[in-house]
Order: sequence, then C-alpha cells, then structure tokens
Amino acid sequence: MSVIRIEGGRELHGHIRIQGSKNAALPILAATVLVPGTTVLSNCPDIRDVDLMKKLLESMGCRIQSCRGRMEIDASGISQCHLQKEYIEGMRSSIILLGAMLGRFGKACIGYPGGCVIGERPINYHLMALRELGADISIEEDQILASASCLIGKEITFPISSVGATENALLAAVSAKGVTVLKNAATEPEITALCRFLIAAGADIEGLGTRTIKITGGPLHEVHYQIPPDRIVAGTYLLTVAAAGGRVSFEDIPLQELTGLTDCLRTMGIELQCQNDAVEIISSAKYRAIPYLATEEYPGFATDLQPQMAAALTCAEGNSIIEERIFDNRFGYAKQLEKMGASVMHEGRRLLIRGTKKLHGADIEAADLRGGAALILAGLMADGVTYVKGCRYVERGYEDIVRDLSAVGARIKYAD
Ligand code: EPU
Repeated sequence: MSVIRIEGGRELHGHIRIQGSKNAALPILAATVLVPGTTVLSNCPDIRDVDLMKKLLESMGCRIQSCRGRMEIDASGISQCHLQKEYIEGMRSSIILLGAMLGRFGKACIGYPGGCVIGERPINYHLMALRELGADISIEEDQILASASCLIGKEITFPISSVGATENALLAAVSAKGVTVLKNAATEPEITALCRFLIAAGADIEGLGTRTIKITGGPLHEVHYQIPPDRIVAGTYLLTVAAAGGRVSFEDIPLQELTGLTDCLRTMGIELQCQNDAVEIISSAKYRAIPYLATEEYPGFATDLQPQMAAALTCAEGNSIIEERIFDNRFGYAKQLEKMGASVMHEGRRLLIRGTKKLHGADIEAADLRGGAALILAGLMADGVTYVKGCRYVERGYEDIVRDLSAVGARIKYAD
C-alpha cells in the first residue's frame, strides 16, 4: 500500500466526507488515561497514528473496543508500565501520555517521541510546564522519568506557543490541586477540542480558544465525545480540487477553522460557495499565484497545509513566495516537485515558486505526511503517470486518500 499510481490531468467532481481530526483525536485518546472508567469516542479517524495510540493505551491495560469510528476505552484497570519504544517513536503525540500518566499515577517513564521529520522538535516547554506544576523530571538513557507526590496548580507562561506543550500542561493541570493558569497557550482548534472533551468529563476550564486558559483541578468521570472533523484533511482536499480543477462539495467541513486557507483560495481566484457547514469548490485549474504567504499559528495559514499549497502554486499564473515560520525544515518535498518539472528554489525558511504551465508525471518519493499529500496533489495536476513511493507516511493522517480521491473521479490506485 505504500506506492500510489496516479494518472493526472482529470477534473474532480462529486462529494467528499471529511474524516475525524487526527490532531484532536490523539491528545484526547491520551487524556482517556485520566478517566477512571469508560470513555466513548465517536468519529475517530481510522489512521495509523490512532492505531499506534490505541496500542500504547492497550499496553497500559486499557480495554479497547473499536468499530467504524466508535471507540470505547475502559481505563479503569490500567497501571503504570514500560511503553514500547517502537510505538513511542512512531509518532509525536506519544509525549502527551507524559502529562496524562503523571496525572493518573503520580509518575511516568517514557521515551522520546518521533513524528514527521520537519525540523527540530524539542520538548523543553512540555517539561518546563510539568516541572512548574511540581513534577520532578530527569532524563536517563533516552528515557524521561517524571514523578510528583502531588501536582499543584500554578501560573505558567509559555515563551512560545506550542500545541503539544499546551496539551501536556492541560492534562497535568486537570489532575493538579488548585488553579492553573496557562499564558500564551496555543489556540489551535485541537486545543479547544481537548478542553471540550475534558469539560464533558467534568473538568473546570475557562478561556477556551484564547491565549489564557484557567484550569481548576478535579476528578474526571465517564464521558461520550465526538471527535470534530479534520481541518487539515479538509484543506488538503480543497487545495487538490483547486489544483486539479472540477467541482466538489464537502459536508461537515470546519470552514470557520480554515480562514487562513479560504482567504488564499479567494486571492488565487478559486470560487467557494458556502452554506452553513457545507461548501462547494469550483475550479477551472487556472489560478493566480500568491506573491507572499507565511505560515502562522492559528488562525493564520497552517503549516500543515504549506506543502499542499506549494504544490498547487507550482502551476499558478505568476510567482509565489512561501515562508515557513513554524518548523525549520518543512520543504523536503520540493526536490520531488522539481522532478515533475516544477520551478522551485529553497532558500532558508523560504520557498520561491515560479509558476509553470504544466507538471509532468515522474517517480517520486514522500518523506513525511503532509509532504506526501502534496506529492499526490501534484500527481493529479501533472500530465502522464506519477508513482509516489513512501505513502505509508500519508496513512498516518489520511484514512484512505486513494478511496476519497477516486470517489470524485481521480485516476489513482495503490500500485503494490
Ligand atoms: N517547540 C519548542 N519546544 C517545545 C515544543 C515546541 O521549541 O517544547 C517548537 C517546535 O520546534 C516548533 C514550534 O514550537 O518550532 C511549534 O511546535 P508545536 O509544539 O506547536 O507542534 P507539535 O505539538 O509538535 C502539532 C501538530 C503538528 C502541527 C503543529 C503546529 C500534533 C500531533 N501535531 O505539533 O501536526 O504542525 O502542532 O500546528 O498535534 C501534522 O499533523 O502533520 C503535524 C506535524
């Protein structure tokens, strides 16, 4: 399943349903460790990272049943244990188990997390926040050892906005005694989703979606929660239709979370018809370049859509510059686009893109999740046949990109 064959040059028509959000589901799954009973999640995406998190929870003693997006996690009988290195290193979100385990057991031992290779991804602010709440943390032979006889609420100011560090702090803070105030917290919708989950489970949290979140610690109870739709998958498919051309409608699309992208699509001259939670995108595959675009924290243009946008802009009328401000090495896909005839130049944190008329099919290779999605998008725009190797990375975040795109008329299939 790791090689995808694409015959480009076909317009896309029809309807796509957006899966549940990966980056909301993963920290919420980690948070189930704090619930001394059964959590029921619906709309859980069927992706590799969720599968890995499920294995980690099972190895702690959680009893899990899952069927068609519904997951029941019984964490009543769990115990602190050694978590398998292979699972921990398989993704970034495993680190969120640190705050969760500390909250449940008063101690935790975990290896360093993996995740996509998109630049330096330290965890210093995760550890800083947990230490501020009273955890004693040491590093021994690549293992993070944390313990706290009692976590105590405190005001914590993050030097930079970090999604993961905010999530870890939230999980430790709901288990702490007293009040915690997180300042310069991340405001990404996935943080709000985690807060909503915790509130539904009995937590007292104020300031959702703002830079200051106030948490009063207390016990959690059993809960049923629906994972919201994935804004990055939605954005990927909007860009794919914009680039390939056609007319596709989407249901349950979190459009209010995608203003960074929809502003760009309008600048490019792509038509969007929006009605409540439904949107239709109409594109002739001819669009203008974006002279300058920078990735930013929410609600700015998401770094997780930067590769897909860059791929689309390779065939825009005019030249574009994309500046990546969140991660320091997220242009790994650019060399692959060059093999398809794209004119792209990587200079530090910037990618200079000269719009060309057409890409051509080539044998290319994905090296990370969103970069892989960008190469698939490029294959759909190109004349001829493209083989994208390394698509196992794409499975980390997209349920079945081949299923979704072939349903709207793309000539795309697994090649092995
Ligand atoms: N940072 C630090 N120290 C820390 C934590 C972060 O310096 O302790 C820096 C990072 O190096 C980076 C910046 O802060 O330069 C932002 O990182 P952040 O912690 O916000 O990112 P993350 O939690 O590691 C999540 C998503 C990413 C998404 C980013 C930014 C998950 C599982 N991952 O990562 O999603 O790009 O937020 O929005 O939620 C993806 O889905 O493809 C993906 C990479």
